[in-house]
Amino acid sequence: MTEKKIVFSGIQPTGCITIGNYIGAISQWKILQKKYFCIYCIADLHAITICPEKYILNKNILDTLSICLACGIKPEESIIFIQSHVPQHAQLNWVLNCFTNFGELKRMTQFKEKQYSNKNVNIGLFNYPVLMAADVLLYQTNKIPVGKDQIQHIELTRNIARRFNSIYGNIFKIPETIINKNGFCIKSLLNPKKKMSKSDINTNNFISLFDDDILVKKKINNAITDSDNPSIIKYDLYRKPGISNLLNILSNITGISIKKLEVELKNETYNDLKKYLIKELCSFLKEIREKYYFYRKNEKYLNNIIFSGAEIAKKYANVSIDKVFNAIGLYKI
Ligand code: TYM
Repeated sequence: MTEKKIVFSGIQPTGCITIGNYIGAISQWKILQKKYFCIYCIADLHAITICPEKYILNKNILDTLSICLACGIKPEESIIFIQSHVPQHAQLNWVLNCFTNFGELKRMTQFKEKQYSNKNVNIGLFNYPVLMAADVLLYQTNKIPVGKDQIQHIELTRNIARRFNSIYGNIFKIPETIINKNGFCIKSLLNPKKKMSKSDINTNNFISLFDDDILVKKKINNAITDSDNPSIIKYDLYRKPGISNLLNILSNITGISIKKLEVELKNETYNDLKKYLIKELCSFLKEIREKYYFYRKNEKYLNNIIFSGAEIAKKYANVSIDKVFNAIGLYKI
């Protein structure tokens, strides 16, 4: 194993990737790869819980990989692979199912939400957090960079690991969450009390990394601001959730602190803030899109990355699977 601390995270290949995914997760992944041994996974097994069409899933997997590369994930520095290419994830998932209580999964807020919005409430959807636990624990992960919506799942992962260790000894590392303090939850543009989500039916609620200038302009111009008086530009999640969300996005993509932005925009209107954000977002997304198209058309290169990514991942995963199977007493020839 490596000397460096291990970082693991994943993303579902579900079509569009939002600016929320970028700020909450991918931008952190990019920074962490300099210091840690980073393992990033395209969670295609998680994506089938919503039963996407075959062609669409297939396309989304390479789209998501290309977007990750375009956002600065470097295959020379990090391991990037497709979850289903490493069968040990599903193997450990089954073992961990036997150490997870039904009641624990019933309490997962994401499942509760999805239960009501999905027509197809399958067991995969219910079991989803245990597969996440398997993803993380398989690599003896130290740190998991995610957005706020995943914290409950990581807490469950830690509980499962502790429970397993308390019976069989020190088999799993207990991982910690890393949250981007300023971007832990980017909110919906039309309802800033709700998370910005790529699965939102109304696409005006989110900015996709694939959105062109016209769409960005339309969506930001329609974004909810706040009806308070006076209409000063100030970060205040309670009184000004809409403006705070726009400031947050602006700060994360420009790297200018919210405090500095507040000073800079002291005498400006909400409309000026929107104009500023549109300009910055358009140039930010243009650069990502250009890189995305460059990678996306080179399928041979993409296949090489995920092939070697999976080969390395399997080596690490096998060490944990052997340890676990041994610990629980499965017979080995
Ligand atoms: P997914 O694909 O829904 O989201 C990928 C990452 O983006 C973060 N995120 C956000 N962060 C801030 N603001 C938002 N509005 C926002 N929306 C999404 C998510 O928190 C996540 O970090 N189950 C996971 C994928 C996964 C995984 C794992 C993550 C599979 N195995 C193991 C960590 C460890 C998921 O569906 O993420």
